[in-house]
Amino acid sequence: MRILLLTHAFNSLTQRLGAELRERGHEISIEFDIADSVAEEAVALFGPDLIVAPYLRRAIPESIWKRHVCLVVHPGIVGDRGPSALDWALQEGAAAWGVTVLQAEAEMDAGPVWATAEFPLRAAKKSSVYRNEVTQAATTAVLSAVDKFAAGQSPTPLAAWPDARGRLRPLMKQGDRGIDWRHDDSATVLCKINAADGFPGVADSLFGQPCHIFDAWPEKVGAGGTAGEVVARRETALLRRTVDGAVWIGHVKRPDGIKLPATLAFAAEAVALPEAKLDAWWRVDHATWQDIAYEESAGVGFLHFEFYNGAMSTAQCRRLRAALAWAKQRPVKVLVLLGGADFWSNGIHLNVIEAASLDDGSPADESWNNINAMNDLALELIETGDQITVAALGGNAGAGGCFLARAADRVWVRDGVLQNPHYKNMGNLHGSEYWTYLLPRRVGAQGARDIMRNRQPLTARQAVAIGFSDACLAADPPAYRSEVARRAAELAAAPDIDAMLAAKRAQRARDEAKKPLAAYRAEELAHMRRNFYGFDPSYHVARHHFVRKSLASWTPRHLARHRDLGWKVSA
Ligand code: COA
Repeated sequence: MRILLLTHAFNSLTQRLGAELRERGHEISIEFDIADSVAEEAVALFGPDLIVAPYLRRAIPESIWKRHVCLVVHPGIVGDRGPSALDWALQEGAAAWGVTVLQAEAEMDAGPVWATAEFPLRAAKKSSVYRNEVTQAATTAVLSAVDKFAAGQSPTPLAAWPDARGRLRPLMKQGDRGIDWRHDDSATVLCKINAADGFPGVADSLFGQPCHIFDAWPEKVGAGGTAGEVVARRETALLRRTVDGAVWIGHVKRPDGIKLPATLAFAAEAVALPEAKLDAWWRVDHATWQDIAYEESAGVGFLHFEFYNGAMSTAQCRRLRAALAWAKQRPVKVLVLLGGADFWSNGIHLNVIEAASLDDGSPADESWNNINAMNDLALELIETGDQITVAALGGNAGAGGCFLARAADRVWVRDGVLQNPHYKNMGNLHGSEYWTYLLPRRVGAQGARDIMRNRQPLTARQAVAIGFSDACLAADPPAYRSEVARRAAELAAAPDIDAMLAAKRAQRARDEAKKPLAAYRAEELAHMRRNFYGFDPSYHVARHHFVRKSLASWTPRHLARHRDLGWKVSA
């Protein structure tokens, strides 16, 4: 079928649905929901059999839903309606939740039901539940709805649905989210911040100044001070006392500002606090916030790096490089880089770079420092001679993060994870991270050009099919983690592991003799220097719009296929 995805943005759910539908042979094009007239034009150009709306912030115009079947993805159980579905479910501690695919009609979220899928609701950040459980359930429900539509079946009117448990809920306002630091215990504080993460955050204040807070983590060790007081700092986060303990606050947005690591948003106040530094990379056994953590079992080292949104600042890259260099000295034959639970890496930290301009600093200089720190990290990984390295992607990766993963010997990807291996969307950025060395050796020169030019997300299965990744592992996160541990232990125990390591070192030496890594880096950085310091400001403009979340005013051409010149002729 010809399916138009009408969406507010090309977010991870839209990317996943587009890729899954394409894999099943459907012809997909995408239009951003910018204005009724633009959506009408897209429908007229593409002539879709079906319209799917994965992520909309407003109703589909009547001129469209009256003439075409439009399937709307609602992140709630059957009967649930309203714009804060997940927020209410998380804040009220629902045990299970779901996704419903409805047919668009005049009343929002009240049309007949095509399909639904439920899941146990994790006490986690809203954005994490959205990227994992909601995306998986939405994929299941949309694929089932599309099959039913193709088979000529009809949806079930909401009133006739046998066990509709949901109801109409209002928009959750800041008044519903507010934290009472003198009474709320840590669990309540975490729950409220989780229900508001990554948008809109909880309106609060720090050091007597208003801000929105995000990214909370529990702290089990007792902290001094009185409830509500900020008592310590660690790397990017601040420790704040509650009535029964304390929580770490990782990110903050000040009025008219952008979302930043808390110790950067309140830099002057943070340095005056005591530092609760962890003195080693080993995972500490009590629950605390630890962004970089190392564990070992069965001859395998596992390195976690839980960086918010997968963004890696200069300081984070340097610390991760130090942790990797340390891990390489451990007596293990296999090192697995696990990244974070939701993202493996999304490359250089665009918000921290943008913040340099707010501080009278230079975003160009900060970009330069950040890409060099990324490259140093990639180099540390490429130059690992005594271990087989594995990048295990349990969460999505984008741009430089994707290529950093290729610096490992093996890349294993959880089924359902998306990789966006391209830079050009960020103002035509050339990219570095030794991609000009790492990518062609996996997919060939032509394959590398295609990947960079197409700018499409790759599913785990597609990535394996083209040699971009080595294995697609179980979709279910606990099953995926066991599979990673089992495969890594098998690798470490392989009778030919020393021969594998010798072959790897020999290959690296041959590659180095042919063209040194320093030459790849210098060539890439010559382009990046132009991106950062040259006369064309595209990268700075694109970054500004990305971090400020400017509304799109048009759909990029590589997504809106129906807008290609001559599309009708070839269709
Ligand atoms: N730096 C800072 N923040 C980043 C980031 C980066 N490199 N990449 C993603 N984020 C943030 C987003 O702003 C968003 O923030 P929010 O919590 O305030 O909503 C969050 O991470 C999730 O990103 P989103 O775009 O919603 O996720 P997605 O899974 O739908 O899309 C990408 C993933 C990778 C396609 C998209 O995030 C992207 O293009 N990122 C930029 C990658 C890049 O150009 N890096 C620099 C070059 S190396």
